[in-house]
Amino acid sequence: MSNQRIVVLGANGMLGSDVMAEFAKAGIEAKGFDLPQFDITDIKRLGDIIEQADAVINCAAYTDVEKAQTEAELAHTINADAVGRLAHFAWENQTWVLHISTDFVFDGQKKTPYVEEDVPNPINEYGKSKLAGEEQLILSGCPYCIMRVEWTYGDNGNNFVKKLVSLTNERDSIGVVDDQIGSPTATVETAKVIRQLIDKKPQGIYHYAADGYVSRYDMAKYIFEKLNINTKVEPCKSSNFKTAAQRPLNSRFNCDKIKRILDEPIPDWQKQLDDFLGKLK
Ligand SMILES: NC(=O)c1ccc[n+]([C@@H]2O[C@H](COP(=O)([O-])OP(=O)(O)OC[C@H]3O[C@@H](n4cnc5c(N)ncnc54)[C@H](OP(=O)(O)O)[C@@H]3O)[C@@H](O)[C@H]2O)c1
Repeated sequence: MSNQRIVVLGANGMLGSDVMAEFAKAGIEAKGFDLPQFDITDIKRLGDIIEQADAVINCAAYTDVEKAQTEAELAHTINADAVGRLAHFAWENQTWVLHISTDFVFDGQKKTPYVEEDVPNPINEYGKSKLAGEEQLILSGCPYCIMRVEWTYGDNGNNFVKKLVSLTNERDSIGVVDDQIGSPTATVETAKVIRQLIDKKPQGIYHYAADGYVSRYDMAKYIFEKLNINTKVEPCKSSNFKTAAQRPLNSRFNCDKIKRILDEPIPDWQKQLDDFLGKLK
């Protein structure tokens, strides 16, 4: 059990809320902060919070991938500039920062799963802002762990799983891309891993995702089958969808590095999704 002073930023978001719930379940005390009471761009407030923390988990972020294309400056202010200041305060206080990042730092062109040493090359504004945040953290010299996650879903936020299921109320058939491959990952499972990392305080970059890989199309078919939904799933290509932001086609992570420090094996995407869908039914 941890007796550190732990702070969670973005504590009401999809991941942050599950982190808070996981800590509460484990009897770990943590202080949560989020909009509207706490704004990560408020330097004075941020400094005061970091000064009184031994560990900071940063789940706060500008996460609207589409809107970021036209609000790049705002995305950068929250995902990069604020992270830079957070890192500076953390360096001053030698506070360990667990910063959540994303597969969107990569361009998705690699033919095999991404390892931590792969060179990022984001293809949209959100990805660029998240990469800039990572860089600021690394440059600061503070004790940090960047945990890149991907394709996450949970109870308290918009995500692919919920959107797909809600669309079945309106349509008899849904087109889903079969050229984007990744690992659907539950935020409740991610939160369990974060709870383990709090004591271990690893440093550097770590990739975390559910075990195994699947396309968005096969994932949709799996979900409808599990929920006995008759809506037809039609395979299509990312190029068929007119979106403001481009998405990486390959989001696969190699998670060997984090697996070496975790107490238990990472559950596969089917197990994680089954648990989530069981609650949706
Ligand atoms: N969702 C995914 O598929 C995915 C994939 C890879 C990585 N990630 C990363 O995972 C982390 C957690 O994101 P999430 O999925 O939990 O998304 P989320 O639900 O949007 O959580 C982000 C939280 O940050 C808050 N926030 C936004 N601007 C803020 C500000 N200026 N000051 C303080 N808090 C602010 C949001 O508040 P509001 O809701 O009020 O704006 C929200 O509570 C992020 O770093 C994200 O980049 C997510």
